[in-house]
Amino acid sequence: MPRRGLLPESFLHTSAAAGFRYQRRQLYAEGVALKHIAADVGTPTYVYSRAAIERAFVQLDTACRSLPHTLCYAVKANSNLAILRLFVQLGSGFDIVSGGELERVRRVGGSPDRIVFSGVGKSREEIREALRAGILLLNVESEAELELVAEQAAQLRRPASVSLRVNPDVRAGNHPHIRTGHHKHKFGVDWPEARRLYLRHRRHRWLRWQGISAHIGSQILRVEPFRRAARRLAGYVEELARAGLRLRYLDFGGGIGVRYWRERPFPLPVYVRTLSAAFVPLGCHLLLEPGRLLVAHAGVLLTRVLYTKQTRRRTFVIVDAAMNDFLRPALYGSVHPALPVRLDSWDRRSRVTLVGPACETGDCFLEDWPLPPVRPGDLLVLWGAGAYGMGLASNYNSRPRPAEVLVEGRGFRVVRRRETRNDLWRGEQF
Ligand code: LLP
Repeated sequence: MPRRGLLPESFLHTSAAAGFRYQRRQLYAEGVALKHIAADVGTPTYVYSRAAIERAFVQLDTACRSLPHTLCYAVKANSNLAILRLFVQLGSGFDIVSGGELERVRRVGGSPDRIVFSGVGKSREEIREALRAGILLLNVESEAELELVAEQAAQLRRPASVSLRVNPDVRAGNHPHIRTGHHKHKFGVDWPEARRLYLRHRRHRWLRWQGISAHIGSQILRVEPFRRAARRLAGYVEELARAGLRLRYLDFGGGIGVRYWRERPFPLPVYVRTLSAAFVPLGCHLLLEPGRLLVAHAGVLLTRVLYTKQTRRRTFVIVDAAMNDFLRPALYGSVHPALPVRLDSWDRRSRVTLVGPACETGDCFLEDWPLPPVRPGDLLVLWGAGAYGMGLASNYNSRPRPAEVLVEGRGFRVVRRRETRNDLWRGEQF
């Protein structure tokens, strides 16, 4: 085994909590050597560990045990049916943002009464689908949407279980693209407007005010923004209660940050204590919408080295995964450590630039990254790719999207086959 400290520290930090580890110098997902998956399924391939997902879910669920709560997994983080099925088996609820996500959850047997629906632009059809399914909560994000919900509920003669997504006006989230809870963002309704809507429609024939919701951003690494948002939300709930409107659910969204490399997220108990302090006195049932926290470390992107090339200033390692397969580094500048699947000559590492084959300078996974000498054909993984990996993948450059594999103990199965050429032009005509 390599000596501690020689591996990127983030890997050591997270590997204990995840399903991946080195055994006899080979990287394993649970009991399966990744080289076997590459030989069987090819590359690039997303590889997920079932045990890692289960562990993450149970960890958060247990940390929250002092609060009456339901975890509603944010489907967008990884919406593969096999992963969703796993969450159904774990007893999770779901946070969805489209009719497509609703149907995915229903296909794997997810119960509608554990589904919450967020999003600023739900279509009429999506609202109808949600009402017909009888989901737990429609998180409404504007007056116009509320009117449409009321109209559709009346047409279907089914009262709508609604909450308003309020914008608590706090800054949070690691990257500007994933901040949501500030007044300048498109999400939610400001409190004065939300209060007006709650009170104005409190006795509406087709609207049932069941809750209030907020989601302030993603990959949040400090607990302070959560504290501020929680206090504000608690204040809103109390204000409504004083006006005689008691809400049953408080949906606090997702956003808990994880360590991909050098990030230092807050410990979960600190988060839970913060929420408890604000929410326990209210007597509401808490809903949380974690996405990344539950799946990020349960997945890697397995890729093969195509070429190496030396320029005057740099050593490039060109792999068979590209930005279309895994967009986070290009889109958010996020660092996902690359690790060799076969851990040889770790002491002889040198700094390389890891790039994909796409025709974009931005198609770069890592710069100045320490890797042992690699040759064409060698396998690498990009770490922490379980959340917002496959979901953000595209066919840019007419590249078929990767396969997805779920490892369970000593076995693995393809839970999404690799796309073929024909998949590329499905639906096109000339
Ligand atoms: N609830 C709502 C309403 C959301 O919009 C989101 C994420 C979540 C829950 C889950 O947040 P999480 O626990 O995963 O932070 N593509 C970006 C992340 C976008 C997040 C969008 N909303 C990334 O790769 O970082």
